[in-house]
Amino acid sequence: MKIAILGSGGWGLALACTLSRLGHEVTVWSAFKDELDSIRRTGELRAKLPGVQIPRTVKLTEDICCCENKDIIVVGIPTKFVRDVCNQAREHISPSSIIVSCSKGLEEGSLKRMSEVIGEVFPENTVVVLTGPSHAEELGRGIPTAVVVASSDRDAAMLIQRTFSDNVLRLYVNSDVIGCEIGGAIKNVIALCCGVLEGLGLGDNSRAALITRGLSEITRLGVAMGGTADTFCGLAGIGDLIVTCTSMHSRNFRAGILIGQGTDPEEAVRIVGTVEGYGCAAATLELSRRYGVDMPITREINGILFLGRSPKDAISALMGRPYRSE
Ligand SMILES: NC(=O)c1ccc[n+]([C@@H]2O[C@H](COP(=O)([O-])OP(=O)(O)OC[C@H]3O[C@@H](n4cnc5c(N)ncnc54)[C@H](O)[C@@H]3O)[C@@H](O)[C@H]2O)c1
Repeated sequence: MKIAILGSGGWGLALACTLSRLGHEVTVWSAFKDELDSIRRTGELRAKLPGVQIPRTVKLTEDICCCENKDIIVVGIPTKFVRDVCNQAREHISPSSIIVSCSKGLEEGSLKRMSEVIGEVFPENTVVVLTGPSHAEELGRGIPTAVVVASSDRDAAMLIQRTFSDNVLRLYVNSDVIGCEIGGAIKNVIALCCGVLEGLGLGDNSRAALITRGLSEITRLGVAMGGTADTFCGLAGIGDLIVTCTSMHSRNFRAGILIGQGTDPEEAVRIVGTVEGYGCAAATLELSRRYGVDMPITREINGILFLGRSPKDAISALMGRPYRSE
């Protein structure tokens, strides 16, 4: 297959390594020449994937025309820039190319899921969502990883499954696009909160409670939006939540730790870099209001991030809520 990957960050490059190993013709595009020059010079992207050699067979380019004549286009761009990059690529992508969305988040303002944003820019293309528990740093090192591909077009999802799978990366097909995307986006919000607990020096009991109650509120919202409850028990739900809420590879978790230790939230995001849970927290709160779903953890993390609420007060508020059944 001929595959273009938009974004030469950790995830775009980890997938490029996998797809190149599988014998596909892979081109990686970035808007940033410096980023590509550094890979050209050293054969790796030290800042994001240290120790992972990018195969010489992977072509690197700053020219968006690379999207022409491709079977598959992979979008590996942080949520914030997806619409802009897709607009840049629009005239170069044929309607027959399958677009694989890897970006986990919601568009600020419109509250749209990434497959909706991509579908608006490319109304004629089939979009497949790829999500699940997957740190680029681990996939890049060949550590076994399982993810989900979801699409309203099952044949397209199965084609991506066949094209991307090997004994390192295993893909499962799911038809619940909404559930898969909501799981992937909102786990970052819960991971930020888990980081705050860690930064405050709290323990495993607190983290387990937060992950479990976090899953409960993600599921309530996802189902209200039209997703399927079962999806949240799978890789796109609890799977991604576990990996993001427990690992120092997660930028959301790391930003949360800094906030719990007293760093101003904006400063924490500046230090860590791409922290998609930050923008997604506000979008999730708006969605919870739109769908009439109570999301206490999301509400409290929004208080911490945007209203100057102290992490300790937020935890007290969560623990002091009226008694209820599970
Ligand atoms: N890193 C992971 O482990 C991982 C795993 C699964 C999914 N994802 C998702 O994939 C997406 C990309 O993640 P990442 O970790 O590779 O991100 P990243 O922060 O490393 O950035 C990815 C790339 O996007 C491009 N980019 C950044 N800002 C841009 C801009 N303003 N205009 C144009 N291009 C820009 C650059 O090429 C950059 O290298 C995210 O939405 C993330 O949720 C990441």
